[in-house]
Amino acid sequence: MRGYFGIGVEGISKAHNLGAVLRTAHAFGASFAYTIDAFHKAADVGRTDTSRSASHLPFYEWESVDDFILPKGCTLVGVELTDDSIDLPSFRHPLNCAYVLGPEQGSLSEGVQARCQHIVKIPTKFCINVSLAAALTLYDRTISLGGYPDRPVRPGGPDLGAVSNWQPPGYRRQARKSKS
Ligand SMILES: C[S@@+](CC[C@H](N)C(=O)[O-])C[C@H]1O[C@@H](n2cnc3c(N)ncnc32)[C@H](O)[C@@H]1O
Repeated sequence: MRGYFGIGVEGISKAHNLGAVLRTAHAFGASFAYTIDAFHKAADVGRTDTSRSASHLPFYEWESVDDFILPKGCTLVGVELTDDSIDLPSFRHPLNCAYVLGPEQGSLSEGVQARCQHIVKIPTKFCINVSLAAALTLYDRTISLGGYPDRPVRPGGPDLGAVSNWQPPGYRRQARKSKS
Protein backbone atom coordinates (compact mmCIF):
# COMPACT_ATOMS: atom_id res chain seq x y z
CA MET A 1 0.00 0.00 0.00
CA ARG A 2 1.29 3.46 -0.87
CA GLY A 3 1.88 6.10 1.80
CA TYR A 4 1.90 5.47 5.53
CA PHE A 5 -0.31 5.99 8.55
CA GLY A 6 -0.13 6.22 12.29
CA ILE A 7 -2.96 5.93 14.80
CA GLY A 8 -3.43 7.21 18.32
CA VAL A 9 -5.91 7.86 21.08
CA GLU A 10 -6.51 10.88 23.28
CA GLY A 11 -7.20 10.36 26.98
CA ILE A 12 -7.91 6.63 26.74
CA SER A 13 -8.48 5.33 30.27
CA LYS A 14 -8.66 1.55 29.96
CA ALA A 15 -5.39 -0.25 29.30
CA HIS A 16 -7.12 -3.16 27.59
CA ASN A 17 -8.66 -0.78 25.02
CA LEU A 18 -5.26 0.76 24.33
CA GLY A 19 -3.82 -2.75 23.95
CA ALA A 20 -6.53 -3.60 21.41
CA VAL A 21 -5.87 -0.38 19.44
CA LEU A 22 -2.11 -1.09 19.37
CA ARG A 23 -2.58 -4.67 18.29
CA THR A 24 -4.97 -3.56 15.53
CA ALA A 25 -2.55 -0.82 14.42
CA HIS A 26 0.29 -3.34 14.25
CA ALA A 27 -1.82 -5.87 12.32
CA PHE A 28 -2.90 -3.31 9.70
CA GLY A 29 0.70 -2.12 9.17
CA ALA A 30 0.79 1.20 11.03
CA SER A 31 4.09 3.09 10.92
CA PHE A 32 3.61 4.52 14.41
CA ALA A 33 1.14 4.70 17.27
CA TYR A 34 0.64 7.21 20.07
CA THR A 35 -1.41 8.41 22.98
CA ILE A 36 -2.14 11.99 24.01
CA ASP A 37 -2.74 12.66 27.70
CA ALA A 38 -2.92 8.97 28.65
CA PHE A 39 -0.44 6.80 30.50
CA HIS A 40 -0.70 3.10 31.21
CA LYS A 41 1.46 0.40 32.64
CA ALA A 42 2.94 -1.69 29.82
CA ALA A 43 1.99 -4.88 31.69
CA ASP A 44 -1.70 -3.90 31.68
CA VAL A 45 -1.64 -2.99 27.99
CA GLY A 46 0.09 -6.29 27.19
CA ARG A 47 -2.95 -8.29 28.35
CA THR A 48 -4.75 -7.41 25.11
CA ASP A 49 -1.74 -6.42 22.99
CA THR A 50 -0.32 -9.91 22.89
CA SER A 51 1.58 -9.03 19.70
CA ARG A 52 3.71 -6.66 21.84
CA SER A 53 3.24 -3.89 19.27
CA ALA A 54 5.39 -1.34 21.05
CA SER A 55 8.40 -3.57 20.29
CA HIS A 56 7.60 -3.52 16.58
CA LEU A 57 6.45 0.01 15.82
CA PRO A 58 7.36 3.39 17.29
CA PHE A 59 5.02 4.30 20.15
CA TYR A 60 4.83 7.89 21.43
CA GLU A 61 3.21 9.12 24.64
CA TRP A 62 2.45 12.82 24.26
CA GLU A 63 1.61 14.66 27.45
CA SER A 64 -0.85 17.04 25.83
CA VAL A 65 -2.05 18.25 22.46
CA ASP A 66 0.39 21.17 22.75
CA ASP A 67 3.36 18.74 22.71
CA PHE A 68 1.93 16.55 19.99
CA ILE A 69 4.20 16.53 16.91
CA LEU A 70 3.57 14.76 13.62
CA PRO A 71 5.96 14.07 10.73
CA LYS A 72 6.15 16.78 8.06
CA GLY A 73 3.33 16.41 5.54
CA CYS A 74 1.33 14.07 7.76
CA THR A 75 -2.40 14.94 7.81
CA LEU A 76 -4.29 14.55 11.09
CA VAL A 77 -7.65 12.80 10.71
CA GLY A 78 -10.03 12.76 13.68
CA VAL A 79 -12.39 9.82 14.13
CA GLU A 80 -15.42 11.12 16.00
CA LEU A 81 -19.19 11.26 15.78
CA THR A 82 -19.91 14.97 15.28
CA ASP A 83 -22.63 16.70 13.26
CA ASP A 84 -20.07 17.83 10.70
CA SER A 85 -18.01 14.63 10.41
CA ILE A 86 -17.56 13.11 6.97
CA ASP A 87 -19.06 9.64 6.54
CA LEU A 88 -16.12 7.23 6.46
CA PRO A 89 -17.38 5.24 3.43
CA SER A 90 -17.27 8.47 1.36
CA PHE A 91 -13.93 9.70 2.70
CA ARG A 92 -10.77 9.79 0.57
CA HIS A 93 -7.97 8.76 2.97
CA PRO A 94 -4.80 10.88 2.72
CA LEU A 95 -1.75 8.86 1.68
CA ASN A 96 0.23 10.11 4.68
CA CYS A 97 -1.84 10.60 7.79
CA ALA A 98 -2.38 9.97 11.46
CA TYR A 99 -5.79 8.98 12.80
CA VAL A 100 -6.80 10.10 16.27
CA LEU A 101 -9.62 8.68 18.37
CA GLY A 102 -11.21 9.87 21.59
CA PRO A 103 -11.55 8.50 25.13
CA GLU A 104 -14.09 5.88 26.24
CA GLN A 105 -16.15 8.46 28.09
CA GLY A 106 -16.24 11.71 26.20
CA SER A 107 -15.10 12.82 22.79
CA LEU A 108 -12.00 14.21 21.10
CA SER A 109 -11.15 17.48 22.87
CA GLU A 110 -11.72 20.79 21.13
CA GLY A 111 -7.94 21.25 21.02
CA VAL A 112 -7.41 18.00 19.11
CA GLN A 113 -10.43 18.59 16.85
CA ALA A 114 -8.99 22.01 15.96
CA ARG A 115 -5.73 20.33 14.87
CA CYS A 116 -7.55 17.85 12.59
CA GLN A 117 -7.68 18.60 8.86
CA HIS A 118 -10.62 16.16 8.56
CA ILE A 119 -12.99 14.44 10.97
CA VAL A 120 -14.71 11.23 9.93
CA LYS A 121 -17.52 9.18 11.43
CA ILE A 122 -18.44 5.55 11.10
CA PRO A 123 -22.12 5.31 10.22
CA THR A 124 -23.45 3.74 13.43
CA LYS A 125 -26.55 4.65 15.49
CA PHE A 126 -24.38 5.44 18.51
CA CYS A 127 -20.76 5.30 19.63
CA ILE A 128 -18.99 1.96 19.43
CA ASN A 129 -15.96 0.79 21.41
CA VAL A 130 -12.87 2.86 20.59
CA SER A 131 -10.79 -0.14 19.51
CA LEU A 132 -13.55 -1.27 17.15
CA ALA A 133 -13.71 2.25 15.72
CA ALA A 134 -9.94 2.08 15.16
CA ALA A 135 -10.25 -1.31 13.41
CA LEU A 136 -13.07 -0.16 11.13
CA THR A 137 -11.17 2.99 10.17
CA LEU A 138 -8.06 1.02 9.26
CA TYR A 139 -10.09 -1.61 7.43
CA ASP A 140 -11.72 1.17 5.40
CA ARG A 141 -8.27 2.55 4.57
CA THR A 142 -7.13 -0.92 3.51
CA ILE A 143 -10.07 -1.48 1.20
CA SER A 144 -9.87 1.95 -0.38
CA LEU A 145 -6.08 2.28 -0.74
CA GLY A 146 -5.04 -1.37 -0.83
CA GLY A 147 -5.32 -1.67 -4.62
CA TYR A 148 -7.83 -4.52 -4.52
CA PRO A 149 -9.87 -5.29 -7.64
CA ASP A 150 -13.48 -4.01 -7.70
CA ARG A 151 -16.08 -6.28 -6.16
CA PRO A 152 -18.09 -8.30 -8.65
CA VAL A 153 -21.78 -7.48 -9.20
CA ARG A 154 -22.82 -11.01 -8.23
CA PRO A 155 -22.19 -12.42 -4.75
CA GLY A 156 -18.80 -14.08 -4.39
CA GLY A 157 -15.20 -13.29 -5.19
CA PRO A 158 -13.88 -11.69 -8.38
CA ASP A 159 -13.55 -13.71 -11.58
CA LEU A 160 -9.91 -14.76 -11.44
CA GLY A 161 -9.57 -14.58 -15.24
CA ALA A 162 -10.80 -10.99 -15.23
CA VAL A 163 -8.33 -9.97 -12.56
CA SER A 164 -5.35 -11.89 -13.87
CA ASN A 165 -3.55 -8.58 -14.41
CA TRP A 166 -4.08 -7.58 -10.82
CA GLN A 167 -0.99 -7.61 -8.68
CA PRO A 168 -0.72 -7.04 -4.98
CA PRO A 169 0.00 -3.46 -3.82
CA GLY A 170 3.63 -2.47 -4.35
CA TYR A 171 4.16 -5.03 -7.12
CA ARG A 172 4.51 -2.48 -9.95
CA ARG A 173 7.03 -0.43 -7.99
CA GLN A 174 9.05 -3.60 -7.26
CA ALA A 175 8.87 -4.64 -10.93
CA ARG A 176 10.04 -1.17 -12.11
CA LYS A 177 12.92 -1.28 -9.62
CA SER A 178 14.09 -4.69 -10.74
CA LYS A 179 14.01 -3.60 -14.45
CA SER A 180 16.18 -0.50 -13.82
C1 LIG B 1 -17.04 4.97 23.09
S1 LIG B 1 -16.66 6.36 22.14
C2 LIG B 1 -16.86 7.73 23.26
C3 LIG B 1 -18.13 7.84 23.98
C4 LIG B 1 -19.13 8.74 23.32
N1 LIG B 1 -18.63 10.06 22.99
C5 LIG B 1 -20.40 8.85 24.11
O1 LIG B 1 -21.44 8.88 23.50
O2 LIG B 1 -20.32 8.87 25.34
C6 LIG B 1 -14.90 6.37 22.07
C7 LIG B 1 -14.29 6.90 20.81
O3 LIG B 1 -14.51 5.95 19.79
C8 LIG B 1 -14.63 6.63 18.54
N2 LIG B 1 -15.94 6.29 17.98
C9 LIG B 1 -16.86 5.46 18.49
N3 LIG B 1 -17.89 5.33 17.67
C10 LIG B 1 -17.63 6.11 16.58
C11 LIG B 1 -18.32 6.37 15.36
N4 LIG B 1 -19.49 5.83 15.08
N5 LIG B 1 -17.74 7.22 14.48
C12 LIG B 1 -16.54 7.76 14.73
N6 LIG B 1 -15.84 7.55 15.87
C13 LIG B 1 -16.39 6.72 16.78
C14 LIG B 1 -14.45 8.11 18.81
O4 LIG B 1 -13.09 8.43 18.61
C15 LIG B 1 -14.85 8.22 20.27
O5 LIG B 1 -14.29 9.33 20.92
